[in-house]
Amino acid sequence: MSQSNVQKYLKNYGSTKEAAIPILQAIQNDYGYLPLDVLSKVCEESEITKSHLFGVATFYSQFKLTPKGKNAIKVCKGTACHVKGADITIVALKDQLSINMDQTTEDGEFSMETVACLGCCSLAPVVMINEDVYGSLSSSKVRSMLKKYGKE
Ligand code: FES
Repeated sequence: MSQSNVQKYLKNYGSTKEAAIPILQAIQNDYGYLPLDVLSKVCEESEITKSHLFGVATFYSQFKLTPKGKNAIKVCKGTACHVKGADITIVALKDQLSINMDQTTEDGEFSMETVACLGCCSLAPVVMINEDVYGSLSSSKVRSMLKKYGKE
């Protein structure tokens, strides 16, 4: 971690608790998630307490405490996908990857999150992996979809 990054955040946004959200947004912008050592350093160097900063980081779903996997899975939970069985897709993904939503597999290959409508409701239920869209999913289709990304 760069010491100067933390200094940059505090210089740009201030070091009081009101700066917590912009600082977290800047960290996530730089690292893609919120590394714990960076958050700790911010608390050491500012007036922001750990309980406040971690409270904000865990309250807002925009903030991620774990790095994204090499393959980022977005599961649509919009109305059409929900009606057409998004929950079955989610169970299959959790089962095959052994992670929950907003987590990353231990090998760093896959991360998973839910999103609102992906804009292709006629294909519901829909999942996006990186830039690829998969529709009309079932448990078995989830398995073959993951295989394309190296999942055994
Ligand atoms: S509700 Fe899932 S793509 Fe629209």
